[in-house]
Amino acid sequence: MEIKLLEQAKKVLEKNWQDGFTIPCEGLYPFQWNWDSGFIALGWAHIDMEKAKSELRYLLSGQWSNGFLPHIIFHNESETYFPGPEVHAADLSPYSSEIKTSGITQPPVLGFVLEELFITSGNTELDFISELYDKVLLCHDYFYKYRDPEDEGLVYICHNWEAGTDNTPVWDDIWKNLDSPEYQLERRDTEHVDASTRPSNREYQHYIHLIELFKEWKYNDALIAEKCPFLIQDPLFNAMLIRSNESMIRLGTLLKKEDAVRQLKNWNEKAKKNYQTKLYDPELKTYIYFDLRADKPMKYVSSSSFSPLFAGIPSKEVATEMANRYFREGSFSGKNNFFLLCASFDPESEHFDPKRYWRGPVWINLNWILYRGFKRYGMEDLADQIKSDTLFLLKKHGFYEYFDPRRDIHQQSDAGYGGNNFSWSAALYIDLLKNKH
Ligand code: DGY
Repeated sequence: MEIKLLEQAKKVLEKNWQDGFTIPCEGLYPFQWNWDSGFIALGWAHIDMEKAKSELRYLLSGQWSNGFLPHIIFHNESETYFPGPEVHAADLSPYSSEIKTSGITQPPVLGFVLEELFITSGNTELDFISELYDKVLLCHDYFYKYRDPEDEGLVYICHNWEAGTDNTPVWDDIWKNLDSPEYQLERRDTEHVDASTRPSNREYQHYIHLIELFKEWKYNDALIAEKCPFLIQDPLFNAMLIRSNESMIRLGTLLKKEDAVRQLKNWNEKAKKNYQTKLYDPELKTYIYFDLRADKPMKYVSSSSFSPLFAGIPSKEVATEMANRYFREGSFSGKNNFFLLCASFDPESEHFDPKRYWRGPVWINLNWILYRGFKRYGMEDLADQIKSDTLFLLKKHGFYEYFDPRRDIHQQSDAGYGGNNFSWSAALYIDLLKNKH
């Protein structure tokens, strides 16, 4: 069974390979996506290191001259996705790349992805790491220069698509106060998959409205920081940056890049301290979001709340309390282990929806992040549980984009949702099976 599924996972990656990079999913996502490519490279590294390297080179070919790394790189043309390059109009920015891209970014995973590739190669790929190192460093530099207006070491996102967790209920309050025009949008996503598992039309109008504002401001970072109605310090995004800094410190040490290592250490020292004081909620005993525009915390618990485990941010005590409350006895496992790990939004919340994209379903990349996080803190029981829940879902349904977290439902119905043959689900399956750590 395992061997057969492993072969299928390889086939998914091969099918989605486009002569240089991998699309996340045929039809639904027909271009190169930023954090998708990072996770996809982890899978390729086990079966074809040259493809893993090419994946990252292609991604970085879309980097802007100020270091910014867009969330979509439009190497190819396709009519099956909205919004395409003409909607993003990234060339309004004086920094944009030759290649067409979007003008928003995604969680910065490349630092730790580079280190994973290096380890998977048996520490042989130092030349490749050296080739990409400065580009990834420049991307981190962009964040601290332009997206940390209060110099806290915590960077903001200015669009929900930057979070990766596109339609999490956390943003609902922001949308309520946003008077976006009622655009007639030609959505393509709902032609590929069931609309009840995707964001609503009203949400899409908000998403596009933010992009229209960025275009009006020519993607100028200072104007975005001053005026954007969506300006959030997101726990997942910042945990990815801190964890990537950590990998870049180790790789930079190997490459003898002393200035870079010093800089990365300074960033991380400040970032970790302020993450713990600003994004930790002692009442909820977990990590939450901060709305910089409204200057107030957003008290919601999602799978992103636990991502700082992966970056080694909580103390052992804080991590244990969090794990007890949410997994060993709490809402993310449910009574009698009713929920598979890990729902993307608090199953006890009235906003929880087990089928709709990031409002409840299980996502394989977050499971991978949390698996590594539990391991880091020596919580082997939870690491085993999240790994076996992940493997159960993939074996039962195949490489879907997301899955229903209700354990019972998998007895009778099809509970894999969104795109099928989804690249990072396949790639991370390969990594979970083959990786020794
Ligand atoms: C989508 O189109 O749903 C993507 O997540 C945006 O990047």
